[in-house]
Amino acid sequence: MQGYKVAVVGATGAVGKEMIKIVEQRNFPVREMRLVASERSKGKILKFCSEDIKVENLSEFSFKGIDFILSSPGASVSKEYVPRAVKEEAIVIDNTSAFRMEPDVPLVVPEVNPHAIQKHKGLIANPNCSTIQLVVVLKPIHMKARIKRIVVSTYQSASGAGTPAMNELKEQTESVLANAKQALPLPGKNVEVKALPSQIAFNVFPHIDIFLDNGYTKEEMKLVHETQKIMEDTSIRITATAVRVPVFIGHSESVNIETKKNLTPGEAREILSRAPGIIVVDDPVKNEYPTPINSAGTDEVFVGRIRQDESIENGLNLWIAADNLRKGAALNAVQIAEAIIG
Ligand SMILES: NC(=O)c1ccc[n+]([C@@H]2O[C@H](COP(=O)([O-])OP(=O)(O)OC[C@H]3O[C@@H](n4cnc5c(N)ncnc54)[C@H](OP(=O)(O)O)[C@@H]3O)[C@@H](O)[C@H]2O)c1
Repeated sequence: MQGYKVAVVGATGAVGKEMIKIVEQRNFPVREMRLVASERSKGKILKFCSEDIKVENLSEFSFKGIDFILSSPGASVSKEYVPRAVKEEAIVIDNTSAFRMEPDVPLVVPEVNPHAIQKHKGLIANPNCSTIQLVVVLKPIHMKARIKRIVVSTYQSASGAGTPAMNELKEQTESVLANAKQALPLPGKNVEVKALPSQIAFNVFPHIDIFLDNGYTKEEMKLVHETQKIMEDTSIRITATAVRVPVFIGHSESVNIETKKNLTPGEAREILSRAPGIIVVDDPVKNEYPTPINSAGTDEVFVGRIRQDESIENGLNLWIAADNLRKGAALNAVQIAEAIIG
């Protein structure tokens, strides 16, 4: 029989559903597809290639005979089950933060460090969504001009925090508009805040994941450590601010870089337009620049607003947008599986 036995763990989630779609869209050779989530979803039906598949409960699931696991059930769940799956000889591609910084676990973006896949011992980590779109763009610039320092501010969509956060954005927006007494919907402070730490409708807040002792959030420090690991260069200095914005799908990033060698905006545009996985959209006079709306549902990382940082000798500013559920998560995982089967 041709093809691979694949299990999607976290299949009912925002990333898991996208994984099922992408495996189908890219014709990944599947002999058998198994869909796995928590006990809550046991028996639910999801579609894969027009086949109805019953969701199975992770705690009752045997990984014997499974070739690939595309995993996104949350870090604490992955920490618990992944060692068991690896022992049963499945190759796990894990989207959670559980193993990303383990020294013997490759952290891979296929356009950037595909060679790292070869070192895997049954487990490969998929980077954080905001890191993936950043390194896809910065790697070709680093190769040409050596990046010394990165200052990044993210504008991350609700879907980055999963299905409950997307529902919260919709419910709060509807509630604020329904209760608006003025022509313009003013703050609407009485909305219910559950899935996210602050009101997301008609608001932005600089808080993604937990706060750490150094005053940064864990999301911000993921950008620092994961970028250095994937770019294989711990000398790059990085500082980040991660912000949640009321967008459903698509993360954006304002990025300032300082390089060792001079690179003009024109040269950067030229390098990036030839690099894999990137589309340069940079004609501001025609209102053409990357936006999360235009990136949603696509596979590429979009970059524009490329311009000189006039405050330093060798600096550039860039604006990046990508679909966080696709290139930021599910697509990157499927690309890793494709690279393994060759
Ligand atoms: N969203 C993004 O842009 C993004 C990007 C990169 C990485 N990630 C990471 O991917 C993971 C999932 O994110 P998401 O956005 O898909 O979240 P989500 O929409 O909340 O989905 C969570 C999934 O995990 C499953 N799950 C939860 N507890 C479980 C358990 N005890 N056993 C088995 N399955 C369990 C859920 O199943 P039930 O439906 O049965 O509860 C659901 O399928 C997170 O670690 C996240 O950090 C997300």
